[in-house]
Amino acid sequence: MPEPKTIFSCSKCEAQYPKWSGRCLECGAWGTIHESVQQQSNKSAAAQIKFDEKKLIDFKSVSVDSFSRIKLGLKELNQIFGGGIVKGSLTLLGGEPGIGKSTLILQIFQSLDTDNSPLLYISGEESAEQIKLRLDRLNYRPKNLKFIAETNCEKICSAISTLKSPLAVIDSIQTVYSNDSEGEPGSISQIRACTVKLLQAAKSTGTALIITGHVTKDGAVAGPKTLEHLVDVVIYMEGDKLHGYRILRSAKNRFGSTDEIGILEMTEKGLMEIRDPSKIFITDTGQNISGSMISCFMEGSRAFLVEVQALVTPTVFGFPQRKTSGYSISRLQMLCAVLFKRAGLNLNNQDIHLNIVGGFKVNEPAIDLAVAMAIFSALKNIIPPKNALAIGEVGLGGEIRPAGNMNKRIGEAEKLGFQTVFAPKLNLNKTFSIKHVQLNNIKQLAEVLNV
Ligand code: TYD
Ligand code: MG
Repeated sequence: MPEPKTIFSCSKCEAQYPKWSGRCLECGAWGTIHESVQQQSNKSAAAQIKFDEKKLIDFKSVSVDSFSRIKLGLKELNQIFGGGIVKGSLTLLGGEPGIGKSTLILQIFQSLDTDNSPLLYISGEESAEQIKLRLDRLNYRPKNLKFIAETNCEKICSAISTLKSPLAVIDSIQTVYSNDSEGEPGSISQIRACTVKLLQAAKSTGTALIITGHVTKDGAVAGPKTLEHLVDVVIYMEGDKLHGYRILRSAKNRFGSTDEIGILEMTEKGLMEIRDPSKIFITDTGQNISGSMISCFMEGSRAFLVEVQALVTPTVFGFPQRKTSGYSISRLQMLCAVLFKRAGLNLNNQDIHLNIVGGFKVNEPAIDLAVAMAIFSALKNIIPPKNALAIGEVGLGGEIRPAGNMNKRIGEAEKLGFQTVFAPKLNLNKTFSIKHVQLNNIKQLAEVLNV
């Protein structure tokens, strides 16, 4: 037998050290480093482990029909899951605290609640009374929804295998702990150990499991990121808490595509579907003022129209200000430089405020042209043409380039009644009746708008 080796490991992040110290150098936690004994592997025993040939699987005998899916009530959710939750799968629903994860979970239950099979809700965060309040708010009278307030992972797994419900939800993986793992609930080692156990429970019982996880503003800290490789499906819920929209984005899906996003609106009666999602970011009145321009951006495989608003005012004192909401400030600075150098637009003594209406963050360069037009229109006080939108990326030379998926974007704009599109030379594979104003560079933009 080899000698056991002593190591010191952190109970919070599992970092290992040869010596004890008061503070973990990896995660910065105090007093979390403990001595433990590392067992060396027994080489002679390992040599005796043989592979069983019966375990070889021939793909000819495998059929994909065995993925039976549970259809959900909300269409947007079904789309995200690739047509419904797969039985025996494990899904992680992540999002910032208070974004609406628990609300969404209850609405999923509501859409599946029948007299036939029990549904299981396990919460370590809220009491039955608190959940009842939310149920009343959602106007949901449960028929067959069972609740347990439990945080012990072994007990949860046993409950799942006893009840054999088609769907079970564990509300917040951060509150669950396993007896077999060290560290406090919410630590990375606990979260990982519990998720592995829940994964086994899901696979062995065929119950579709959803676990929720808190993600903080800077992403990784609370743990869900470390779980992404363990679970089958990862869905993040995003959105501004101030604006009502919630965006569901799938970051990983072993049973479908990750291109889809779902858009829901948080109302007094829970999350509602939006009838015409491509229109939610534009207002009807915004078109008749200077400094407002419509553009189109892609999220996954869907096109959305947005309104870009710019306000340009003379700088009163000192350095000109650049402020943005929903758009990158460095990109705005770049566009200002391009407008100055290539179109002769003097913005050096002007403050610029740029806003993407609806509280959405757009990272796509395809809206550059709309931003440039909005700034131009605000500076010269020209009202942009009615029912027009602009799509294109602006390069440093002032040239305007097409964005990807132009067919889809223009199709969407046409569907919503837009009559003119400002865009570079296009290579469309369909014919559209929308009028195309071709712009090759930013200088032309000035000429076109001045007319
Ligand atoms: P919650 O589902 O508790 O968030 P999480 O589980 O992600 O922490 O979100 C609750 C928020 O949503 C809370 O601020 C209140 C709001 N809300 C509504 O606006 N309408 C509703 O019908 C419900 C149930 C909640
Ligand atoms: Mg919650």
